Amino acid sequence: MRVLLIGSGGREHAIARSLLRSSQLDSLFVAPGNAGTAAFNVDLAVDDHDAVVAWCADNSIDLVVVGPEVPLVNGIADRLRDAGVACFGPSAAAAQLEGSKSFSRAFADSVAIPQPKSGTFTTSAAAIAWLDEVGVPVVVKADGLAAGKGVVIPETRDETEQAIRAMLDDAQFGEASSTVVLEERMHGEELSLFGISDGTTVVTLATAQDHKRVGDGDTGLNTGGMGAFAPVPGIDADRQAELADIFLAPAIQGMADAGTPFVGVLFAGLMLTDDGPRLVEYNCRFGDPEAEVILPLINSDVLELLHAAATGTLDQVTVEMSTGSAATVVVAATGYPQSPRKGVPLTLPATPDGSGVTIFHAGTKHGDDNALESSGGRVLSVTGIGEDLDEALTRSYAVVDAIVAAAPDQGLFARSDIGWRHARRTPSTSGDQS
Ligand code: GLY
Repeated sequence: MRVLLIGSGGREHAIARSLLRSSQLDSLFVAPGNAGTAAFNVDLAVDDHDAVVAWCADNSIDLVVVGPEVPLVNGIADRLRDAGVACFGPSAAAAQLEGSKSFSRAFADSVAIPQPKSGTFTTSAAAIAWLDEVGVPVVVKADGLAAGKGVVIPETRDETEQAIRAMLDDAQFGEASSTVVLEERMHGEELSLFGISDGTTVVTLATAQDHKRVGDGDTGLNTGGMGAFAPVPGIDADRQAELADIFLAPAIQGMADAGTPFVGVLFAGLMLTDDGPRLVEYNCRFGDPEAEVILPLINSDVLELLHAAATGTLDQVTVEMSTGSAATVVVAATGYPQSPRKGVPLTLPATPDGSGVTIFHAGTKHGDDNALESSGGRVLSVTGIGEDLDEALTRSYAVVDAIVAAAPDQGLFARSDIGWRHARRTPSTSGDQS
């Protein structure tokens, strides 16, 4: 098969690596990619869907795999399918599960998925009236995509009103915050559940947890994710199946019943509350850095799996997951997430096959002298695989600590405590910037 992969992060490097292991792969192309996928990168304007469709025709592409949510919400999968190109990723209508929080809450209600009480508002007066009825704490969310910044978790009523007014009265996130969703704040441990669907069949892959805060102990600013691990200790196969029956199967059935079948990765963000598991949000793609721990645990052919999902034949594929654990630690550029340094020189130790460690590139590029350097906030995602979480973390941190130590002028950092709720290891020496 000839495959085009769209995206440029650690997630896409992880997808590329899994595709490259497939005996069914003839050629891989990545747009735009990063330094980790340099051998496969093609110069293609991925926001220009006409150009992508034309390029696929010119290059006899059999399958397009879309990594990030934005092109999916903007309809790239519809354009490709209309042109006869198989695409792994949901239609714009199905991607509304991530693209519109009000859609997602209303849909989840319609199929009886457990979730917090919520309200959708287009005026601050109505939103504040709901706030006064329900009381703090509530979470304030911009309805549309806001580059991961559209969720505010205020503590006091004043902060909540400010967040509502910033979004609805001051258009803080433009069109994305012309509607806001207010939700009762939930408490408990967060957990993500990943499934793949062809629109009717759904295959559960694994549970994972990520660490969104920049600092050790889950402190500091929110980020795209500073590390992740899978599976989540304590969630056995029976519990995972129970969660899939509550949060994945009814969603796939409901989307099919609505005439908008969901094809791709359904990523359910959950909160394990004292009253049982509740939906935090749906996403319509692999998480990043969750992809960097889930994909390496898939023993079966990932290309066969994604192609089967894209072509409605998932019931003919068996997915075999590793019994081990994976942990990934993000190496970030100093200053992330506000103003990461650019151009930090990178020295990477060798991580040969069999070492149990893979370095996935995220914000990397080859500079003028062709040397490897950082080009974004999250620079690398270093994944260790082991018999259990501790072994996976130990392997990852041995490499992370070497990369951070080798960076000049303390240009890189990593959280030292990924997996802290479940791991027995002591924190690494990398330190953090909190
Ligand atoms: N790591 C969280 C996300 O990808 O949404």
